Amino acid sequence: MALTPWSFSLYHFSFLTEKSHKSIQSCPPSLLLQPPRLSAFARSILPSFCNARRLVALCVKEEQTQSPVLDSDASPPSSKTVLVVGGSGGVGQLVVAALLNRNIKSRLLLRDPTKAIQLFGVQDKSKLEVWKGDTRNPSDLDPAKFEGVTHVICCTGTTAFPSRRWDGDNTPERVDWDGVRNLVLALPSTLDRFVLVSSVGVTKFNELPWSIMNLFGVLKFKKMGEDFVHNSGLPFTIIRAGRLTDGPYTSYDLNTLLKATSGERRAVIIGQGDKLVGEVSRLVVAEACIQALDIDFAEGQIYEINSVEGEGPGSDPEKWKELFKAATVN
Ligand SMILES: NC(=O)c1ccc[n+]([C@@H]2O[C@H](COP(=O)([O-])OP(=O)(O)OC[C@H]3O[C@@H](n4cnc5c(N)ncnc54)[C@H](OP(=O)(O)O)[C@@H]3O)[C@@H](O)[C@H]2O)c1
Repeated sequence: MALTPWSFSLYHFSFLTEKSHKSIQSCPPSLLLQPPRLSAFARSILPSFCNARRLVALCVKEEQTQSPVLDSDASPPSSKTVLVVGGSGGVGQLVVAALLNRNIKSRLLLRDPTKAIQLFGVQDKSKLEVWKGDTRNPSDLDPAKFEGVTHVICCTGTTAFPSRRWDGDNTPERVDWDGVRNLVLALPSTLDRFVLVSSVGVTKFNELPWSIMNLFGVLKFKKMGEDFVHNSGLPFTIIRAGRLTDGPYTSYDLNTLLKATSGERRAVIIGQGDKLVGEVSRLVVAEACIQALDIDFAEGQIYEINSVEGEGPGSDPEKWKELFKAATVN
């Protein structure tokens, strides 16, 4: 099978950056011998990739100069309390911004709670409460803490290849498997929905090109996390994302996050199974997670998602329902 651009996702980007150099040096040489095929191809696509990221950064900067659109005061308060895990990440921060904007009570579990202030500003505690916690540590996940949480969106992750983000053993095995399992075990059985962001390719981690991405197990461990969620008895929806585009906007603030757009790629493709090979805007994934919370027939389902050029559903619940409905096999 030919290598697809998806094989060189942001997972791989971090593998190619200087930051990851130190961690790569500490890898067994046998593993380091395998990626050159990846690096050669990645080098050839890197200039356009970097340009794309620069463009996104420029767009965001431009948007920063405009006044923010904050709808939360106009929205009626929601009865939901949504716990976002991974809320400082690319998808997670967009989820949190959208929840705040819709007046939906949010709880964040963050390894470093100061990131919440940086990203979302000082918020009323009733709207946004931040808890310190690392999903790898069951002791950080006291079930008593989660009483009252009605919905969970989990968008934790780490790089697929060794990087600084693995420091302290924060590897795919620990985050995508141990972390997801620990979280599920700590959640109340009364939960209305658990939405897990996963990845396309998880069922094919032994096949090319996915096996390259899975060199350090990321897809295998994501699948193990998925399976645990599936068998947990919790009402779940799993969203398998294609290669993520747009963002992460990690050095920006809430107003900028609220102004982030998917550019031209607003049209959404949702399927079931593990067939899609493409890209998806982080904004689209974030919106899909939020919409899935309220779609009854999405309970117990696994979806895959891409976004392409064209008009999309935006944040219209009816349009999202139609998209999910069309994809739902049974
Ligand atoms: N990149 C792609 O192309 C791609 C494709 C398909 C699926 N995915 C998956 O999509 C999801 C969202 O991706 P993304 O790019 O938004 O992710 P991201 O920017 O890497 O964010 C990951 C989030 O997980 C948190 N986290 C990491 N380790 C943790 C731990 N031990 N305990 C608690 N939180 C932890 C991070 O918090 P800190 O701030 O503390 O680090 C961060 O908030 C991830 O599961 C990713 O693997 C990615």
